[in-house]
This record gives sequence, C-alpha cells and structure tokens, in this order.
Amino acid sequence: MDSFLIKGGVPLHGEVTISGSKNAALPILAATLLTNEPCVIRRVPDLSDTRFMVKILESLGALATFENGTLTVHAKKIKGYADYDLVRKMRGSICIAGPLLARLRHARISLPGGCIIGARPINLHLKGFAALGAKIKIDGGYVNATVKKLVGSTMFLGGRAGPTVLGTANVMMAATLGEGITVIESAACEPEVVDLANFLNAMGAQVTGAGSPTITITGVDKLHGAEHEVIPDRIEAATFLIAAGATNGEVTLKGARADHLRAVIDKLSEAGVSVERNGANLIARRKGKLKPADITTLPYSGFPTDVQAQMMSLLALANGISIITERIFESRFMHVSELARLGADIEIEGPSAIVKGGKPLSGAPVMASDLRASAALVIAGLAAQGSTQVNRIYHLDRGYEGMDVKLKKLGARIERIEEK
Ligand code: EPZ
Repeated sequence: MDSFLIKGGVPLHGEVTISGSKNAALPILAATLLTNEPCVIRRVPDLSDTRFMVKILESLGALATFENGTLTVHAKKIKGYADYDLVRKMRGSICIAGPLLARLRHARISLPGGCIIGARPINLHLKGFAALGAKIKIDGGYVNATVKKLVGSTMFLGGRAGPTVLGTANVMMAATLGEGITVIESAACEPEVVDLANFLNAMGAQVTGAGSPTITITGVDKLHGAEHEVIPDRIEAATFLIAAGATNGEVTLKGARADHLRAVIDKLSEAGVSVERNGANLIARRKGKLKPADITTLPYSGFPTDVQAQMMSLLALANGISIITERIFESRFMHVSELARLGADIEIEGPSAIVKGGKPLSGAPVMASDLRASAALVIAGLAAQGSTQVNRIYHLDRGYEGMDVKLKKLGARIERIEEK
C-alpha cells in the first residue's frame, strides 16, 4: 500500500487546476445507463472511484472508453444484475439502481456496505423507488427491485440527517422514465445534484427545481445520448484552499466555482484565510494569524461534511478553542486520533470535537482511514515541522486526482512511496 512522505513547514505557492467533481461524476456515469445511445462525459477525474464505476458499467454490458478525462459510454444492451463484489466495495455504486429500474424495470444489486464514517443505510433510496411503484425485496445481501411500470408520485425523502444526496440522484434518475409527474420533497440541494439534472435534461429528461428542496420530474418515454462536462470538484477546491492557509502560503485555484464554496469561504475568512475571486480563479492566502472558528456540518448550502476533517487540521493550528460538530455522519472523527500523533490537542464530546488549537504540530507516521481524513492528515503534515508519513494513501487516491503531483507543483516536499 502506497504512502506519502511529507517534509512539512513549506508555504505552498503557485497555481493548481481543480479536477472534475468525483461526486458529480459518479451519478452522471450511472445515468448513461438510461439510454441505449452513446454519451460523452468530459472532465471526469481519473480516480480509483471513477475507474471502478466504469468497471461496474462494463460488468452490466456497457462499452466504455476513458482517456484524458473524457469518458464515452455506450449502454446499448445491459443486464440488471451487477456483480456483488463490485457494488459492495464502493458506496457510490448504489446510484446504478435508479437507472437500471427505469431502463429494465428491475435491478438486483448488493446492499452497499457501510464504511468507516457511518452505517450508510439506503432506506430513503428504497422508499423513493417504492413510491414509484417498485416492489423491493432484500435477500442474501442483495436488493431486488422490480416494477411493472414506474408511475410518478409525490414523496418526502428527508431522513434523520436531512436530505440524501445519492438518494435524490437515484430517485430522480428512475423518475425520468416513469409515467406522469414525480415530486421529490426534501430533495438534496448539492451542486452535484444540479449537475446530474442538467445532464439528464441534455438527454431529453424533464427535470425542474434541481438545487432546491423540491425537484419535479415529468416522465418521458425515452432518453437519448448526450455530451456533458462535469462541474469542478468543490471538495478538492476546499482542500487546497485550506492547505494554502495551513502552510501560510498563497495559492491560485484555476477552475474552482466560488458559488459552490460560500460556506467554506465564509469559515476560512473567520479563521484568518482570505479567498478572493480573480475571474474564474480563486486566490487563497493567510490574513495574519489563524483564528479559532466553530463549525457545524449541514446539508448544502451549509458547511459540507466532506470538508470537516480538513478544516480540523487548519483549526488545530489556530490559537484558541474551536468546536466542530458533525451532524451528517455518525462517526466521522477517525482523523482525530491520527492528528493527535502530530501533536494536535482535540477532545471528542459526542457529535462535537473540541479543538484546543495553537500547539505546534510535529511530523510522525500516521494512518489514513477514509478519503477526507487522509486529506486532513496530508494538510497537517504539510504544516507540521519535520517529516510525516501518511500510510494507506489508497484512501486518498479514491477521491483526489494526483494530489501529490499537484502539491509538489505548489512547492510541497512530498514523495509517493510505492510499496513493492
Ligand atoms: C454523498 O454520499 C457523497 N458521496 C458523500 O461524499 C457526502 O459526504 C454525502 O453525500 C453527504 O453530503 C457521493 O456523492 C458519492 P447521503 P451519500 O445519502 O449520498 C443518511 C466523500 O467523501 N441516509 O447524503 O451516500 C446517511 O446515513 C463522500 O466524497 C439515510 O439515513 O450520503 C447520512 O447520515 C463521503 N438513509 C445522511 O443521510 C438513506 O437512505 C446523508 O447521507 C440515505 C442516507
């Protein structure tokens, strides 16, 4: 398993291009199953998660080519049964269920496993499918969904932690080929849902209200092939903005969307990191000393849970006490114990982490546990004095395209150590 060896204490300077959004690309790749015509998706990030999704599409019978960020998928003839192991390994693959149900009237996929950040149930996805008339059976670790005819209806998809992003995506995709009108109340408002809706409409679907808590889909008989460029990855952008602040550098992000980052930019400003727009670019730089800030993760447009760990690394450097409360997932503080190895003083109190920031961080070997926790450890390693080895970096490769290469271009002393 690869690791990163980082020699910290170097301010990051220069320009970095933000890749396409992983969390927009995954449901959009699944949506190509909705038509028997070819689709061309551009700015698809080259990640283990997107490559995995391509493998799943191919296991269903689709033909796919993926080069230089452009993916062509032709799901001419497909089957409704996805390989158990493939689906079980990546949570995001659950979003093939909606397209399979719409295209074939049946889907049989393995229950996606939970992961280290929480149980990750799919009850709201299944509630939405049932509201469209599907019969749902769970046996032997598989979800079997069948329907004679998908019929539109009004449904409430809010759960204990608010809306569901992939649940909204799944039901929206299924409803595009349903009969009549579907209204999703308490729909997720994330930009990735809007990007998916734009792609579906380019395919001939009739989706309105994406980006608001009420999405309306008017079913059509058929969808045709389409071309689409994926939005930039707001979580990758946030990660680099935070890394610039943590290392007291100045970094220009090319292609980031400020309108997708308002909560992050607001909190960075409070913590002493300024983010200015310069045309299509964002420039992050420290404004004097870092300051503590309190954060609660919320559904969009609130502070994103996918940036919580990275922000904790920054606030560990700020003199004073910051309170970070995680409201979306039940156990998303796996990075706390690893940050403590670098000298961070953080206490967990239920859903909150109390960060007693300001102690200098010093390098140490640490273990990545999940995608965003590994990004937090890289940021802390960049800011710490001395060397930090971040192990199990495969977690990071799931969601960041060439992070070590991008950081090296910004002056970071970072090496990827490939385990033989
Ligand atoms: C998406 O996951 C993202 N993944 C996650 O990013 C992100 O953290 C999450 O949305 C929340 O914003 C992709 O888009 C591939 P949810 P998703 O359904 O859709 C509960 C990353 O680091 N829930 O919005 O799976 C759930 O347990 C990843 O890039 C139910 O209770 O998340 C959670 O507490 C991590 N029942 C909350 O809702 C359901 O049926 C939000 O989950 C579905 C979800």
